[in-house]
This record gives sequence, C-alpha cells and structure tokens, in this order.
Amino acid sequence: MAADGNIDNLLHETRRFAPSEQFQANAVAHADLYDSAAKDLPAFWGDQSRELLHWHTPFTTTLNWSNPPFAQWFEDGELNVAYNCLDRHVEAGNGDRIALNWEGEPGDSATYTYAQLTQEVKKAANVLLGLGVSRGDRVAIYLPMIPEAVISMLAVARIGAVHSVVFGGFSSESLRARIDDAAAKLVITADGGWRKGKVSALKPAVDASLTIGGEENPSTVEHVLVVRRGENDIDWAEGRDLWWHEQMAAADTEHEAQPFPAETPLFILYTSGTTGKPKGILHTSGGYLTQVAFTHKNIFDLHPETDVYWSTADVGWITGHSYVVYGPLANGATQVIYEGTPDSPHTGRWWEIIQKYGVSILYAAPTAIRTFMKLGRHIPDQYDLTSLRVLGSVGEPINPEAWVWYRDVIGGGTTPVVDTWWQTETGAIMVSALPGVTTLKPGSAQVPVPGIHIEVLDDRGTPVGKNSGGLLVVAEPWPSMLRGIWGDPDRFVETYWNTFAGKYFAGDGARLDRDGDIWLLGRVDDVMNVSGHRLSTAEIESSLVSHPRVAEAAVVGASDETTGQAVVAFVIVRSVEPDDDDADGDGDGQDDSHAARDNGTEASAASGSGTPPEDVDALAQELRAHVATQIGAIARPRQVFIVAELPKTRSGKIMRRLLRDLAEGREIGDTTTLADTQVMTVISASVG
Ligand code: PRX
Repeated sequence: MAADGNIDNLLHETRRFAPSEQFQANAVAHADLYDSAAKDLPAFWGDQSRELLHWHTPFTTTLNWSNPPFAQWFEDGELNVAYNCLDRHVEAGNGDRIALNWEGEPGDSATYTYAQLTQEVKKAANVLLGLGVSRGDRVAIYLPMIPEAVISMLAVARIGAVHSVVFGGFSSESLRARIDDAAAKLVITADGGWRKGKVSALKPAVDASLTIGGEENPSTVEHVLVVRRGENDIDWAEGRDLWWHEQMAAADTEHEAQPFPAETPLFILYTSGTTGKPKGILHTSGGYLTQVAFTHKNIFDLHPETDVYWSTADVGWITGHSYVVYGPLANGATQVIYEGTPDSPHTGRWWEIIQKYGVSILYAAPTAIRTFMKLGRHIPDQYDLTSLRVLGSVGEPINPEAWVWYRDVIGGGTTPVVDTWWQTETGAIMVSALPGVTTLKPGSAQVPVPGIHIEVLDDRGTPVGKNSGGLLVVAEPWPSMLRGIWGDPDRFVETYWNTFAGKYFAGDGARLDRDGDIWLLGRVDDVMNVSGHRLSTAEIESSLVSHPRVAEAAVVGASDETTGQAVVAFVIVRSVEPDDDDADGDGDGQDDSHAARDNGTEASAASGSGTPPEDVDALAQELRAHVATQIGAIARPRQVFIVAELPKTRSGKIMRRLLRDLAEGREIGDTTTLADTQVMTVISASVG
C-alpha cells in the first residue's frame, strides 16, 4: 500500500471542529439529507435531479441496473446540459449575474454575465455546427485557462457532441494518442497562454501532434480552431486552421438548445491506469450533472446570490470539469477562473485574487497549501481574506498540519475545511464532510456524501469494520459514475468491477477510525499521485525504455513533503554505441527539454553500470527531459538513478516496494522473495 506509513500517527489526531451555530443556521445542507437518502438511493437522486435541473422531458425511471456494471440513470428523460448551465438562469431573470470573473496571469481580466456567456456559447455552437461537428462527434480541447475553454466545452455539450479536454501541459505525443483514441474531428487550441511570466506556446504542439507518423499516419482531425491569446508567432495550415475570433464574429447569434436523452455522452477524459495506455473515462449527461450540481451546492454550502466561488483546478482535469464548468454553472454560481500559476508574478497572487474578487469559497489542492505553508504566513497575512467562509481540498490526502494551517491562516481560524475524496471515474465528490452538519476532523475525508454507499473491504470482500483498514469500494451505483472506458468495455469491467463482484473498486486503500470515519491511505496499485495528478508507473517506464540508452526501467512514487508523491526512476542503461550522439534520444538530434512546461527539481544520478560518472548526471538529466517531452512536464521524474540491477522476484516481477524504501531513505524491507537477495546491497551502493 502506497502511503500507510503515517496512519497510526494520523489516527491520534484529536482536534475537532464543530460547525458554528451561525453557520448551521444558514447552511444549505441539513442532516435529514442522510436520512432521506438512506431510505431509497435511486429515489433520493431522482428527487435531487428534479429539484436541481431542468428536464425538457421528465424521466419516469431513476436507475436501470439490470446489466451491471453498465448503469443507466434517468434513461427516458431528456435534457440539454448547456441549457441547464446557461439559458435557464437567464430565463429565470439572472442574466446579469456574473458567471465568470476571469483573471489572466499578466493581470488582464474579463467578466462574463450569464447572459453574455450564454450568447458566446450559442455562437460557438453555431461555429461547431458550421464546421460539420454534429451530435456524437468528438472534439479535442487543448487550451489554457481562458474563458474560451469553458465556452468550448459548453458549446460542444450544447450540440450533443463529446469533448475530450487534454491538459495543456501534455506533450504532442500524449495529445495525439488521445486524438486517435477518440477519433476527434476538431481540435480547439490557442496560439499560447501565459504561464510563469511568459507566453507558453500551445499551437506548435498541436501542429507536431497532427504530423506524427507523417503522411502514412493521417489523423482524424479536419480542422484546428485557434484562439488568439499569447499573440506568439505560429505556423498556419491553410484550410485546416481557423481563427476562433474570425469564426465567432461571423457566427449566427441564435441557437436553440435541443434536448438529448439523459445517457448522451458528455465527455471523455483520459486518466492514468496501471498500464502504459491512458484510459478514456466516459461520462454522460443527466446523472453526471445531477451529482455535480448536488455536491457543489451542498458540500460548498453554495448561496449563488452572494457567494464568489473559486476552484483553482485546470479544465484539463476532472476537477476543472465538475467544479469549474458543470457544477458551478448548473447552480448559477459566480466564480473566478485564473489562467496562471500561484507564484506569478509574486507568491501572494492567489491571496490577491481572493481579496480582489471577494472569494467566499475556495477549492484547492493540498500540494498548493503545503507550498504556501513553507513560504510562510506573512504572505497571505498581507491580504484581506475575510470574505472566505468555506475551504475545500481535493486530489490527495491532506495531512492534519496542512489542514489546520489552511483553516487558521487562510480561513482566519473559523472557516470549515472540507476534504473531498473522489476520482475522474466517480465524476463527482463521493466522500466529504458537509460543513454545516459534520464535526470536522483534520486529515480525514470522513463520511460518504448522502446517496453514496461506500465500504471498506478486506481482500476477500468482507467489510473490515471500525478501527481497521482495507480497500475502498463503492457498493451501489451512483449518478455520476463513469459509464465505461472509451472503446474498451473489457478493460472497464476488468479494472473496476472484477475485484469485488458488482461493487466498484476504486484502487485506494482506506481505514475506518473508531467512529467509522474514512481516512484515505493512497493508491494500492501502480498509480502515483503527484501534486494531486495521476500518473502511471507503467507509462513512465515505457517512456524511459523508448530512449535508446535505456535497457530497463522501474518507476516508483516516493513520498514527497510538498507534492505528496514524486516520480523516482531506477534505470539500467545500455552501453553507448560509438555513433549515437542524439542528445535526447528521440531521433531528431536535438535536446527537446525546452518543450516541457514546468521545471522539475534537480536530477540525482549515481554511477553503477560502468557509465563514467561525468556522463551519469548528464544522462539522468536527459532522461528526465525525455519523459517530459514524451508525456508532459508533470511526468518528469524528480530523480533518475542509474543502477546496475533491479530487484526482481524469481518470476521476474520488479519489487517496487523495495525501490520505494530506497527512494524514501528507509531501511530496506523484507527481501526474501527476491531472486537474488544481495541485489539491494548493490543497488543501494550505486544510489549512494
Ligand atoms: O488516490 C485518490 C486521490 O486521487 C485519486 C483520483 O485521481 P484523479 O482521478 O486524478 O482525480 C483527482 C481529483 C478528484 C484517488 O484515487 N485522491 C483524490 N482526492 C483525494 C485523494 N486521496 C485522498 N484524499 C482526497 N481527498
């Protein structure tokens, strides 16, 4: 299990924070939600859905679970997701309410009311239709955090097409793999976006991705729609490439949203699994929108007339889908979106934004909180953060110290912190406190959301009971559950549903404390979590072995004070061929390290395979850059160790547990199942 080392310490955490009377008095959610959900889960979700959404054709059935694990929610109902997020708020008289307060990294900004956002989405829907995109077609979106990202997603949804948003930090190879897998017809991108004080180009990555494999390997993409943002110079493919602003200026402003059946696919979002190939997680419309709206409203205690909500997530991740686009807009919330990084142009940027817009609800990742903790409270203390009244955490476990710091320093000592557990696959939050109901426990995600049935099971599928640990499962279907893996129903069944028949296996370890509250322990499979982002050990290993100097590679997620986990690679190199002088080994004779957006930490390397020591450092750097170029900067290993051997069992399986011990500086665990019990001594010596 990945991160169980500290759990005994965590369970000694005794601080408790009950909701204040004032908070309880105004709270959106009450304890009776749990009671009504417990009576009949599908009926509960049916009631919530009718209350939260507009159904053009009301549904008469809630859940169809006759062919598990293929669920259908509200299947005979019809709705339009974009209409629910836009038009109906305007029709209800809230057209002047601000939907988006967008803040660009250089300090430029833009505001969209619900009426304006609806108008933009109608035009964009017409642009898409004009380009031949129709119901069911897939559109790849590769954009920075600019309003056009939100507009594009909603325009795709509005016409019943399917978006596949690809995080802008992913490489051209990763983008192409996703375009191919979904057979996307259109890519929406930008010339570039602002990041860390300068323009980071995006369009060149799209150009490169579409020419991978040359003419022999044409992509399915017919057009590339380009938003002008960075104003950087870009190449232009006549006929294929189109400027967004030109298309929008020419587009018809009228577009009536058509209703679609509840199970109409809404989006595909790729996430890392245990193999080298990312999984295209498929979400559909009615159930998804019901649960994101419900959780956004109740967990963040949303009062849309007065709150200003800010989720710092990028639209490239599931949090950006569910809690930047669909949940907040379905609820008619006013929100902030920010293009850049937290430290640009200065380390107080987030707090400055909160002060500027009067943000009342903040949803962020523990990695960021820990980074700010290290920088010191004197930075947030310079800003007025008194508008904040609810704080959320997502993506990885939040340790009690970071939780308490978040509450005290950012939340002024009174603001509840809700730790929300969920996944790309679950679509919406599954485990979280309700801030007006739950007595909060720092470090624990605590309780299932009303309407969600969570269990912690032992290996044989028996519930572990209080005060014990096991595997987290979802025991009953839920509205925003993934409906499959795009194009791979067998992998869907195999990955999630075969471990415990009929129950969803999340891949996370969890422990129930004495009160039955849930503490997440990290992944139990070969999936890492770096800064709240999912990475697959297999995907990074296969990237490393694609480098001509690498014979074998093993990757582990080692615990890291700031990022939760960090990628650490152990690599056996091949001897150098005399004519091999390509710096990064990708065959183009160039060092592509500039292609990666983020700078990682320093490489570590040690000799151990006959490679001269001076080459070892350079090679380790080169391998780090290689992974960043192939997958994206987020996958760049923190360290690459060049070693002579890898620890393997007699059947040839790499024992990553032992490598993790080494990477975390712990005493090496039990080595008796190794084929060669001395091998760890050799590896430790070469790591130094
Ligand atoms: O290991 C869990 C961790 O993130 C994984 C899901 O990653 P992803 O699909 O990228 O979605 C992240 C945003 C929802 C989970 O399997 N995780 C997520 N939230 C938490 C968490 N671990 C502990 N506590 C959380 N609150």
